[in-house]
Amino acid sequence: MPGGILLGEEFPDFKADTTVGPIQLHSFFGDSWGILFSHPKDYTPVCTTELGQAAKLAPEFEKRNVKMLALSVDSVEDHLGWCKDINAYNGDEPTEKLPFPIIADPNRDLAIKLGMLDPDERDKEGMPLTARCVFIIGPDKKMKLSILYPATTGRNFREILRVIDSLQLTSQKKVATPVNWQPGENCMVLPNIPEEEASKLFPAGVYTKALPSQKNYLRYTPHTPHS
Ligand code: BEZ
Repeated sequence: MPGGILLGEEFPDFKADTTVGPIQLHSFFGDSWGILFSHPKDYTPVCTTELGQAAKLAPEFEKRNVKMLALSVDSVEDHLGWCKDINAYNGDEPTEKLPFPIIADPNRDLAIKLGMLDPDERDKEGMPLTARCVFIIGPDKKMKLSILYPATTGRNFREILRVIDSLQLTSQKKVATPVNWQPGENCMVLPNIPEEEASKLFPAGVYTKALPSQKNYLRYTPHTPHS
């Protein structure tokens, strides 16, 4: 599937070699949410900072019931050596252990299958490297979100946690989250919900912002544990 996977499609159930041995994707994620994030190459500076941050934030992913899985083009042996650098970068013991496995993809088989190759970044042999993809997969194994950054731009893993909070909330409630939303802040009532239904669905209240169009589509409701 060189073009990649679309939102709502089932994520491929591939086998892969990782730093904790072979895995089968669907059973690795089990009933949890899953995140697969890819890296261009081992022993590269931006990737090291990203994986260090991902390791530090692992308890936050666990709190949200999200299983983490990384991918980089090199071998398991290279990954294990690189893990020592990542832990040292974090100021931790330089062990081979991270809180999540890293998939080895030396021949780019998965990068090609998942539409991850970055044509602008190539290794010494001229082979394209993997872009910085993030795939968030729901417990139903469908793809809920994908982002794609070039190798030269590191991601913000706190933003990824914020996005997961939104995905999990909006999978349960008939709301959407507005610009720069953070948990605890007001959500938007979905535009297709009639007014009467909205007041029943959201007992904490629905507040409509008056706008020149008088279309009453900008409706807020507080984000409480029960709304
Ligand atoms: C990096 O992780 O620093 C990196 C990797 C490949 C190309 C550019 C930057």
